[in-house]
Amino acid sequence: MSQIATVATEPIQGQKPGTSGLRKKTPVFMQRHFLENFVQSIFDAIGGAAGKSFVLGGDGRYFNDRAAQVILRMAAANRARRVIVGRGALLSTPAASHLIRLRRTDGGIILSASHNPGGPDEDFGVKFNTPNGGPAPEAVTEAIHRATEAITEYRIYEAHDVDLSNLGETRLGEMVVEVVDPVADYADLMETLFDFNAIRAMIAGGFRVRFDAMCAVTGPYAVEILENRLGAPSGTVVNRLPLNDFGGLHPDPNPVWAKVLMDEMFGADAPDFGAASDGDGDRNMVVGKGVYVSPSDSLAVIAANAHLAPGYAAGLAGVARSMPTSAAVDAVAAAKGLDCYETPTGWKFFGNLMDAGKVTLCGEESFGTGSDHVREKDGLWAVLMWLNILAARRDSVADVMAGHFRTYGRNYYSRHDFEGLDLAAATAVLDRLRGRMADLPGTVAAGLTVAAADDFAYTDPVDGSVSAGQGLRIVFDGGARAVMRLSGTGTTGATLRLYLERSVPGPDGLDTDPQEALAPVIAAAHELAGIEAHLDRSEPDVIT
Ligand code: G1P
Ligand code: ZN
Repeated sequence: MSQIATVATEPIQGQKPGTSGLRKKTPVFMQRHFLENFVQSIFDAIGGAAGKSFVLGGDGRYFNDRAAQVILRMAAANRARRVIVGRGALLSTPAASHLIRLRRTDGGIILSASHNPGGPDEDFGVKFNTPNGGPAPEAVTEAIHRATEAITEYRIYEAHDVDLSNLGETRLGEMVVEVVDPVADYADLMETLFDFNAIRAMIAGGFRVRFDAMCAVTGPYAVEILENRLGAPSGTVVNRLPLNDFGGLHPDPNPVWAKVLMDEMFGADAPDFGAASDGDGDRNMVVGKGVYVSPSDSLAVIAANAHLAPGYAAGLAGVARSMPTSAAVDAVAAAKGLDCYETPTGWKFFGNLMDAGKVTLCGEESFGTGSDHVREKDGLWAVLMWLNILAARRDSVADVMAGHFRTYGRNYYSRHDFEGLDLAAATAVLDRLRGRMADLPGTVAAGLTVAAADDFAYTDPVDGSVSAGQGLRIVFDGGARAVMRLSGTGTTGATLRLYLERSVPGPDGLDTDPQEALAPVIAAAHELAGIEAHLDRSEPDVIT
């Protein structure tokens, strides 16, 4: 006999969601009561699960399948009405966001640590998305955190595993478990937004595409859309089979971790277009034959050309970027008379702007681009947008980029990550700099004079909520800037992110290597923050 068990528990320290949900080492998540406490706290924070419906799925990393079974049994015990699950408990993050909206559920639970490696000793994560399909805003994540600090019991249905391998409906007690094809609805949505005929014709004409799914969740999505629906030859999508440890790869689409793709795109006989996506399918990297497109530039190019895609033919309502993202998109917005919003880091800050109809397009320098078709960033969406633009313009990536820089100028941009730092030491570096912010204007560092400095605070223009302490920004005379903040997605130690930007109006100086173009800003930022002196590091671990 199946029945509901009420299990006594105690608060577990460290269940505070970060930039994007709760992320921990997998063994931490597998500790007794750890997952259960957090899931019960989600339900408690949203006023209970009774009578509600949810979407559930994840990126397939190690523990995804077990966690999904636990969550289903807890949803049933908390008297949820229905849970819609991707077959095999798989759903890319954008596909989950779409399903929440399409099926008008009361939210969804996404199992992912995004671009962090997966496996028994790597990372796991759980994220709650609200009924608009977007990551829970801070008010909700704070309520979840408070619930984790007060929890005394959780409810779980004692039953066998639900078979998630076949499509259709089954029951877990009173609750309906509906297993759906994780790809179909998402692929259908993409067909409504982009000119599949034009892309198909371009590919049939010999345009070669390479998509690296990095052994993560986008494999089946990319195969269905690029190969089955758009006619790209079989084998266009590589690393297409999702593996629970991502084949030991680091599923983060950037030049460092997607080096194999970069080498191919810069090698002899390179394809015309290359792209990669991350663990849960919300990030993207775009590369042309011999030309890398930085995420900030990609956002700007999309802003300038989105009207070429049928779903965006009416133009954009406005655009938004996270504060550390380059101002390349601002130049396009200014030229086109679009409102342009600057938000803190993290996709959750775009939700209100999209719900209020203030923006259509959003992006982050961290390989995130998306629109109001869902409430998450969307890797394959960005790839299809690019393919649509190239098909409509009958142009190469290199020519599109060169033309863009000539028209709007170029924002040289780079992010330097210092990883595995001692948390106290990294915090101290930022605290020290924060303490000097007011006095910095007028200071000269490595030949650059500081024009303005502050700790970024954001007032949401829709609900008035204030998010302070979102990153230290230092603007130099002439407009170059450096931004510093600590990562909120890591699971060990601290990562200091240093974002660097310098704009050049053109027509000269548009072809410099970004690291070279940014050298003075890099030197000034190092000197002001005392990176060598206080962190004993001179070189970053990852440069994007
Ligand atoms: C990082 C990125 C941020 C992104 C988040 C989730 O967060 O910097 O832009 O929204 O991952 O993909 P961080 O580790 O910097 O807090
Ligand atoms: Zn991701």
